[in-house]
Amino acid sequence: MATERTSLFIFFGGTGDLAYRKLYPSMFNLYKKGTLREHFGVIGTSREKLTDQQFQENVLKSLDVAKTDKEAQKFVSHFVYEAHDVTDKAHYQVLKKRADELDKTYKLNGNRIFYLSLAPSFFGTVAGYLKTEGLTDTEGFDRVVIEKPFGRDYDSAQQLNDALSKSFEEKQIFRIDHYLGKEMIQNIEAVRFGNTIVESLWNNRYIDNIQVTLSEKLGVEERASYYDNSGALRDMVQNHIMQIVNLLAMEQPVSFTDVDIRAEKVKALRSLRVYNVAEASTNFVRGQYGAGDSQRAYRDEDNVPHDSNNDTFVAGKLLFDNYRWSGTPFYIRTGKMLADKFTRVDVVFKKPLIDIFSFPQNQNAPLEANVLTMYIEPHAGFTLRLNAKTNGQGFQTEPINLDYFVDAKDSKATPEPYERLIHDVMKGDGTNFSSWQEVSYAWRFVDQIRKVWDLQKPQFPNYTPGSMGPAAADELIQRDHRQWVYRLNK
Ligand code: BG6
Repeated sequence: MATERTSLFIFFGGTGDLAYRKLYPSMFNLYKKGTLREHFGVIGTSREKLTDQQFQENVLKSLDVAKTDKEAQKFVSHFVYEAHDVTDKAHYQVLKKRADELDKTYKLNGNRIFYLSLAPSFFGTVAGYLKTEGLTDTEGFDRVVIEKPFGRDYDSAQQLNDALSKSFEEKQIFRIDHYLGKEMIQNIEAVRFGNTIVESLWNNRYIDNIQVTLSEKLGVEERASYYDNSGALRDMVQNHIMQIVNLLAMEQPVSFTDVDIRAEKVKALRSLRVYNVAEASTNFVRGQYGAGDSQRAYRDEDNVPHDSNNDTFVAGKLLFDNYRWSGTPFYIRTGKMLADKFTRVDVVFKKPLIDIFSFPQNQNAPLEANVLTMYIEPHAGFTLRLNAKTNGQGFQTEPINLDYFVDAKDSKATPEPYERLIHDVMKGDGTNFSSWQEVSYAWRFVDQIRKVWDLQKPQFPNYTPGSMGPAAADELIQRDHRQWVYRLNK
């Protein structure tokens, strides 16, 4: 059994899709493992009117177990509900009373986690009232968890942060990026800093380029009203992709603690080249899907304006101006309605300077670059492509793969990102959350691209569902005499 943690959770947006689909099931997993047991309580809040019993029934339904499951029933008995208007100052007293009651019932030592799964425009209001109305006046810890998006550009993110900082210190703020809770993303650090053969080659002398692909098969689904105001650049690049790139680019931290890891991540971001207009236009490509065989175009999706110029695809090149990476680009791409759903990182090494095997009869088989691929999802694992001799007479080489994949049993036992992240918040470990400095550098970089795009009218739609994005994304990398490692119709 795991070490039991003690805390009260107050979920703002407690009847939302995220809460039922991810948060409560993740908490139930922690309950089954013993991280949550006797000493926890949950208050769900939203505008909806529900009794405690109705709320408990909803939570039970979200758990994917039989209604009669005794363990699940015991788990949901720790949940209560309060209909709450976040702008109603007086009502925070009602919340406070309920929080104090639960604190007493379950002996929670005044530990509180406020989970804000709400429109960001309310973050400041809620954080302010939590403090002025005394919900944070307890002996134990107070932590606030913030769901994305954290702003829509640097200025709005800064305003949000200023508002939050009036009530909470940086170390009390946990900004969720669910990619940081993924097993294989956490594995990047293990592979880099746990292996001499990897880390000693991890630089511009041996690595030609690094490619990060976050490909989605689905379209915008029912989230158009949010997505059309965000686009792939804000929705995926500013947060998830920048975090992945950063884990790949940062120097080894002094120790494996949140303080030291964050320090290195910020240092790497400081050397990320923020593009001027010309560089942003050349180094970034945007796309929007048109109609496919059985798929309507983005502009025909529900709640999307027919003349929308929103980006559903982004590809780009990032450059770090530092000793380790100067001259080695990081190529990134992400989009909706692509060929498949997968996330992978391809680390492409430089080819040997001299190919001594290039006999005349080997003309068609030059040595290939070594590639270390990290498969993040749906399969978790690694392959390392090497050149080896083909079996038999003569001397020909061919690429072979050394591989390791997490087996189905282990993969089933892998904790959901939210399970890990909620656990980390209870431990007070900020390693897998975005610090304000990381967020602010990422916005500064992304804002430059956005600004350039806002000035130019794109030729949309420019890619077909089921492809890997617009032709311009291939041209972007081909211009540098390179190819995407993952491509269709190789
Ligand atoms: C979210 C984005 O942050 O990540 C979504 O808002 C996207 O648009 C999702 O679909 C992808 O996450 P995952 O874990 O399914 O790769």
